[in-house]
Amino acid sequence: MKIAIIGAGNLGLAIAKGVLHTNGATTMYLTKRNTSEIKDFEKYGNVTVTSDNQEAVKRSDILVFAVQPGHFAAILEDVKDLLTENHVIISTITGFSIVKMEEIIGSNQYIIRSMPNTAISVGNSMTCLCSNQLGKKRIDLAKAIFNRMGHTLEIPEEQMQAATVICASGIAFWMRLIRATTQGAIQLGFDAKEAQELAMHTCNGAASLLIDSGSHPEEEIDRVTTPKGCTIEGLNEMEHQGLSSSLIRGIVTSFEKISQIRKG
Ligand SMILES: NC(=O)c1ccc[n+]([C@@H]2O[C@H](COP(=O)([O-])OP(=O)(O)OC[C@H]3O[C@@H](n4cnc5c(N)ncnc54)[C@H](OP(=O)(O)O)[C@@H]3O)[C@@H](O)[C@H]2O)c1
Repeated sequence: MKIAIIGAGNLGLAIAKGVLHTNGATTMYLTKRNTSEIKDFEKYGNVTVTSDNQEAVKRSDILVFAVQPGHFAAILEDVKDLLTENHVIISTITGFSIVKMEEIIGSNQYIIRSMPNTAISVGNSMTCLCSNQLGKKRIDLAKAIFNRMGHTLEIPEEQMQAATVICASGIAFWMRLIRATTQGAIQLGFDAKEAQELAMHTCNGAASLLIDSGSHPEEEIDRVTTPKGCTIEGLNEMEHQGLSSSLIRGIVTSFEKISQIRKG
C-alpha cells in the first residue's frame, strides 16, 4: 500500500501512526507546508516528509486528505491533473461533500469520505465512511485502513452529519458522563484521581461488555439490578431526573445546530 497523507496535522499524524505501527504501508508520504516538526517520521525508513503535494500524489495510490476545510479545494485543484484511475481518494474533511469533490476532480475517481473521532489518536476511533458510486469498489480498503485505528461503519452520505453528532461530538458527551460519575465517586469518599480511574474503567468495561457479547444494554442492566436493590433505586432516580431524556434531547439539539450550520 503506497499511501500519502496530505495535511499531516493532528488527524493526519494519528492516521499515519496507526498505519505505520501496524506495518500497513510499503511507502508513506506525509505532507504539510512547514515540515520541520514532523521530520522525525523519516526514521521509519519508508516515510518521506515533504511540502510537495504533487510529488506525494504521483508516488502514492491511496491519498488521505486531512487539511482544514478552507484549504481543501485549492489542494485538490493543484493535484487533480495528476490523478489516475488507480488513485483512491479518502477525505477526512468535515462538511466537504462528495459532490463538491466531484466538481473539482470528476466523478470518475474512487472517492471516499471518512468521519473519525479524536480517539483515533489512541487507536480507538469510531469512524463512519461513505463513498461515491465508483468508491464503493474501494470501501473495503478504506475500512481496512481505519479498522487499524478502531471500528468502522459504512453509512449513506446523508447520515454523515448525524454521525458527526453521535461519534465526534459524542466524545464530549461521554466525557461529561464520566466526569459526573467521577464527581459522584468523590462525594462517596474517593480522591479525585481514584474517582476518575473508577469511572473511566467502568465506562470502558460497560462498552466492552456490549461489544464482546453483542447483547442489548438492558440485558446487562438486568444482570446487575437485584429486585429492591441499590442499583435499580439509583437508576430509577436518574431516570426520574431525566437522564435518558436529557441525553436524547441534547443529541437532537446538536443535530439541529449542525444542520443549521451546514445550511448557513
Ligand atoms: N481532529 C479530528 O479528530 C477530526 C475528526 C474528524 C474530522 N477532522 C477533519 O480533519 C481535518 C484536519 O483536522 P486536524 O485537526 O488534523 O487539523 P490540523 O491539525 O490543522 O491539520 C491540518 C494540517 O494541514 C496542513 N496543511 C495546510 N495547508 C496545506 C497544504 N497546502 N498542503 C499540505 N498540508 C497543508 C497543516 O500544516 P501546515 O500549516 O504546516 O501546512 C496542518 O498540519 C479537518 O478538515 C477536520 O474537519 C478532524
